Amino acid sequence: MLRIAVLGAGRIANIHAANVAANPDVRLSVIADPWREGVDKLASKLGCAVAYDCAEAIARDDVDALVIGTPTDTHIDLMLRAVKLGKPVLCEKPIDLDFAKAARAVEDIERLNGKVMLGFNRRFDPDTLQLRKAIARGDIGEVRQVVITSRDPGLAPVEYLTHSGGIFRDMTIHDFDTARTLLGEEPVEVFAMASRLVEPALAEIDDYDSVMVLLRTASGKQCHINCCREAVYGYDQRLEVFGAKGMILNDNHRPSTVRTYSATQTEVRDPLENFFLERYADSYRIELNQFIEAVRANAPLPTTARDGLRALHLANCAIESIKTGRAVKVEI
Ligand SMILES: NC(=O)c1ccc[n+]([C@@H]2O[C@H](COP(=O)([O-])OP(=O)(O)OC[C@H]3O[C@@H](n4cnc5c(N)ncnc54)[C@H](O)[C@@H]3O)[C@@H](O)[C@H]2O)c1
Repeated sequence: MLRIAVLGAGRIANIHAANVAANPDVRLSVIADPWREGVDKLASKLGCAVAYDCAEAIARDDVDALVIGTPTDTHIDLMLRAVKLGKPVLCEKPIDLDFAKAARAVEDIERLNGKVMLGFNRRFDPDTLQLRKAIARGDIGEVRQVVITSRDPGLAPVEYLTHSGGIFRDMTIHDFDTARTLLGEEPVEVFAMASRLVEPALAEIDDYDSVMVLLRTASGKQCHINCCREAVYGYDQRLEVFGAKGMILNDNHRPSTVRTYSATQTEVRDPLENFFLERYADSYRIELNQFIEAVRANAPLPTTARDGLRALHLANCAIESIKTGRAVKVEI
């Protein structure tokens, strides 16, 4: 039985730890976090050991693989420690905020044949999996254009935003990965626009809240990503893939399919599922299952550290495009 450590006891690590504990094929050995109160509570709820030091948890004899859900600036150090001990890792996005540091880490990981899966959970959302299968079957022919809508319900606290790395590396990074997977080709050019339409004070931390990005691949396929940190009607997550023989759409999720008609309104529906822990709950579980299956079968992981690097580079190209007002060539 694969024995897993979860690093972190915060928002996302809570989800991963619960999924590991609920999976009958693996054992949750330990949860590690320097936040004693939080990790004690989570570990006692899930019935596993506790560590207050992540390095100690990685080195434990009863840990075969790791899930990293700690702050972004700890990811590389922790994943390299695990790789050097030959332990596979599922690590949250983004890989890091510093491209040069991430590029060095990816080279080390590849040289050591390390197994690192980057947590681009949206790839494993059941809707997206279905959409990708339809594209692979040729249902809509050759893909021509992809439109990604990704809007959060509300602006995160300023403390979070200050350390997030900015909207492109924190939020749109998911969409850069989705664009790569749905286009089926690497983007070669990025053009971005960004505004502060929700919170002008974001200028103080050199960040934005409303962005649009255009991507183009070498053969001319196009993708349009639109992101906003605030949508008053809820968490707006939609995909549209347009091809030579048709189009595939996926729509927002609601708690029920009920529609109400009255004298003043028709088609009144439940609000959208609200926020990522709810909307993408299945994706985190399926992501973990695919990690476990690949590790047990000694098969290639479904995503890699290099995927993390590529998405980070696209985010950096978008930032450069905003600074220069020009389209930026993708050069990795
Ligand atoms: N895939 C997704 O949908 C998704 C969603 C949210 C967050 N994330 C990513 O997950 C990571 C964590 O985000 P979060 O929202 O859960 O953060 P969080 O602040 O809720 O949790 C982070 C935890 O890490 C602990 N910690 C702080 N410093 C540490 C250190 N030096 N070593 C080890 N642990 C430390 C904190 O005590 C805290 O419990 C980030 O990289 C974020 O980008 C991904």
